[in-house]
Amino acid sequence: VKIGVLISGGGTNLQCIIDKVKNGYINGEISLVLSNKKDAYGLVRAKREGIDAIWMDRKKYSTEEEYNDAIIEEFKNRDIELVVLAGYLKVLSKKFVTEYKGRIINIHPSLIPSFCGSGYYGERVHREVLKYGVKFSGATVHFVDEGTDTGPIILQRIVQVKDDDTVESLKERVLKVEHEILPEAVKYFCDGKILLDGRKVIIMR
Ligand code: GRF
Repeated sequence: VKIGVLISGGGTNLQCIIDKVKNGYINGEISLVLSNKKDAYGLVRAKREGIDAIWMDRKKYSTEEEYNDAIIEEFKNRDIELVVLAGYLKVLSKKFVTEYKGRIINIHPSLIPSFCGSGYYGERVHREVLKYGVKFSGATVHFVDEGTDTGPIILQRIVQVKDDDTVESLKERVLKVEHEILPEAVKYFCDGKILLDGRKVIIMR
């Protein structure tokens, strides 16, 4: 399965996918890594592995629609079959979601439907978790639909929230389970083991 990965930052989730492709856990190949941020370290990680890595400069496009069309173009040219959003901080256009419906996977650093939706990304998620005082948090891998963080849930894994947690310590603990469930979901997709029954995702393990 040809995989296209969209990133905006450090790319630690991307790195896990790269490693799991290399060791054969994921039956796929990363055909393109595309970032909306020029300085995303994830681009360095991709180039180091000889993977096509592109910074798509938003300033070169007049609208979000055109920006997304340019990304679709890059993906179509490479016959991408699975789109993975690995710390990608932009919303996809309706056309993009329609074009790749059922083939876009996103990782979110909370237990959806809690602490998610527009504005809930990165540290903001963990800050709200600590403020609210929930005893567990975690990560969610889900299909992307027209909403924000609203698509069918593929995998979730929980972490304990500790009394002395800071945003940093909680973020680290959640990032660790992100690095476990994202490659796992990509593997199941590449192995054709993910069934969608309405909103319910069944994994044929
Ligand atoms: C992290 O905050 C992670 O929770 C979210 O995107 C951010 C960047 O992750 N998914 P990465 O290190 O760029 O993969």
